[in-house]
Amino acid sequence: MDLIHHKNALKSLLKQRRNQNNIVGFVPTMGALHQGHLSLISIAQQQCDLVVVSIFVNPTQFDNAADLENYPRGLEEDLHKLKENFDNLIIFAPHTEEIYDSQLTSETFAFGELAKKMEGASRDGHFDGVGTILKKFFTIIQPDKAFFGEKDYQQLLIVKKLVDLLNLPLEIIGCPISREENGLARSSRNKRLTADQQKEAGFIYKMLLKAKTNFNNKSISTIIDSIEKDFKNNSSFKLDYFEIVDAETLNTAQQVKKDKKYRAFVAAYMGEIRLIDNIALN
Ligand code: PAF
Repeated sequence: MDLIHHKNALKSLLKQRRNQNNIVGFVPTMGALHQGHLSLISIAQQQCDLVVVSIFVNPTQFDNAADLENYPRGLEEDLHKLKENFDNLIIFAPHTEEIYDSQLTSETFAFGELAKKMEGASRDGHFDGVGTILKKFFTIIQPDKAFFGEKDYQQLLIVKKLVDLLNLPLEIIGCPISREENGLARSSRNKRLTADQQKEAGFIYKMLLKAKTNFNNKSISTIIDSIEKDFKNNSSFKLDYFEIVDAETLNTAQQVKKDKKYRAFVAAYMGEIRLIDNIALN
């Protein structure tokens, strides 16, 4: 396993290792690695000859200073997990100054409507921050494939749009959501929940399953009303949004059309921790 902190060192290593037929895969992470990240890396290793994993908490995608400060970090533990589970990875763990000049600013991207809904509406500038860091990483690494979890499904669509906008020869692969036994979607933020909260947080998945069960026989507004009520009656959560949308455009679904795919999306606070999740409905 190679651990690299500087972009020029990474570029030269990739130059040495890459040959014409090598497929280079990239798994971007913000560290605090869990089973979900490990499953992304396994998928990447199955599909690629060389895999780069980045560990970098990207400041420009946080709209809230406290959230950035409290984001779980632990490079040593992350490296230990990677060594235990994989051979032949290239880990890129740069310091902030290596990636951003003195100013921590985001580029603005023409993501359009995709970036205005749900996470985009709730977290100002978030997707421009994600686009900024990924553009930098894609330029340094020049991967053939990059792997993203469907837990951040809106991000996955935004990344596909970024690749279109930049006209990159890069395939974006969406990978299934990894869940705890109670259905809680694995996330680095879960580390900030107490053991009791982690147990209770299975409620979020229960609500997504409720939407899926009712999708074929109740109207969308009836489903949403009922789930919003369930959240109101559960004092452990403060619901930010529960939405049923077209899985391609993220436009709010009013009426279901047979040839379209739909997904339900949820964001809710447990205390200060904001959790998101989603599910395919058809
Ligand atoms: O999903 C994440 O962890 C981050 O948004 C990403 C893609 C690593 C960019 O910082």
